Amino acid sequence: MLSGEEVTAVLDRQTAVMEQVASGAQLGEVLDSIALALEELMAGSMCSVLLLDEEGRLRNRSAPTLAAGFSAGVDGLVPGPAAGSCGTAVHLGEAVVCSDVSTDYRWETFRELAALYGLRACWSSPIRSRGEVVGTFAVYHQTPYEPDERDRELVRRFTHLTSLAVEHDRSTAEREARHRAELARQSAERANHAKSQFVTALSHELRTPLQSITSFTENLQTLDLSPDQRQGALERIGGAAAHILSIVDDVLDLARVEAGAMPIELQDVDVKDEVEASLDLIEPLAERRGLHVGCTGPSFSVRADRRRLRQVILNLLSNSVRFSAPGTRIRVYTEGDDLVGRVHVVDQGAGIPEELMARVFVPFDRLGAEAGREGGAGLGLVLARRLSEAMGGTLELSSVVGVGTHAVVMLSAAGASRLLPPETPKLGDVRGFEFAD
Ligand SMILES: Nc1ncnc2c1ncn2[C@@H]1O[C@H](COP(=O)(O)OP(=O)(O)OP(=O)(O)O)[C@@H](O)[C@H]1O
Ligand SMILES: [Mg+2]
Repeated sequence: MLSGEEVTAVLDRQTAVMEQVASGAQLGEVLDSIALALEELMAGSMCSVLLLDEEGRLRNRSAPTLAAGFSAGVDGLVPGPAAGSCGTAVHLGEAVVCSDVSTDYRWETFRELAALYGLRACWSSPIRSRGEVVGTFAVYHQTPYEPDERDRELVRRFTHLTSLAVEHDRSTAEREARHRAELARQSAERANHAKSQFVTALSHELRTPLQSITSFTENLQTLDLSPDQRQGALERIGGAAAHILSIVDDVLDLARVEAGAMPIELQDVDVKDEVEASLDLIEPLAERRGLHVGCTGPSFSVRADRRRLRQVILNLLSNSVRFSAPGTRIRVYTEGDDLVGRVHVVDQGAGIPEELMARVFVPFDRLGAEAGREGGAGLGLVLARRLSEAMGGTLELSSVVGVGTHAVVMLSAAGASRLLPPETPKLGDVRGFEFAD
């Protein structure tokens, strides 16, 4: 039996270990502390903890004073009726005392290994967690050794302490796994919800032009239309079909870029060339609407995919054209340094109310513009932003109702040693831009 003084010593050590567990220490460290504590209390002993892995093999988890070569030699041990003290203890589910391993039949396989490291006695007790054997706590001696009552009491206490530490470690791991699974479930649910919203909005968006195609086709088939009326109907059908096609193209682009499957070929691209090419395309429409478009700023190169950069600039320009009143100006400013290049598209249009800004990059959300006469699906900005990001850049938007809107695409400068620095694009108040020619 333990003396009063010894009980105090054991309790002190147990408390220290429990404090270590509570402070969140790694299981390996806790097991080392337990092994060392018992070694201190039991002269000449060397302790080890082996735990079962998923394949049912015993793995060395702590053996602070045993020779590393010996621990490596028993690591991976398969429990069985004669598998050293530890393998046998796990197999039987009860303590196994081999007071002299040089003669014990259960040490047949490990006899030479034990002799090599000067080990003569090994006594192993199963560690249980939730009623199941999960490993063993072993005590070695360098001479033949038979444990007495005091030794048994000490080992019983320390094996129990080990069980508590293992149990705590498993509960923590399970709690963390549950938490991770819950986070994954929530994120899948959000993605699913976003996807169904997207599909609903897409079908809604396609329905209008499809209905228009159906009804004009029906008119053509059933009514006796004049040549002009027929021409008009065919034009409406053509327009609706083109609208469907552009939605499908944008949706496919968006899906590809979001899946990381959009082929993006980054090369040195002259920004001014792309801006001018985009302006050439948009100018006829802008002129018909009485808008003045133009560009200023230096010419420089950025890392971009030429076709996609043009798509981004065109999307921004077409928004400015769509949402600006006749007589106002649309300006493109280029600006670049050693690290980044920026393209600003600034208009003097209707602007976007602050409370709607959070929705401008939401697919199919047109912020109420669907009630107006301007066509569109509400995909342009989100696509332009995803494309900019796929090129390693950013796209930001700021707007003031009644003053105008300012979009800025930022890309890495050609030859910059790293992609975009952690800097947000310089977004100015639209008022700060000079619209004079
Ligand atoms: N320059 C702008 N001025 C005012 N409002 C804008 C401007 N750009 C975008 N918006 C608002 O943001 C909404 C979303 O723009 P986005 O480009 O994504 O869609 P869209 O232009 O309506 O359609 P799409 O680009 O798919 O043809 C627009 O419907 C409009 O309400
Ligand atoms: Mg648009």
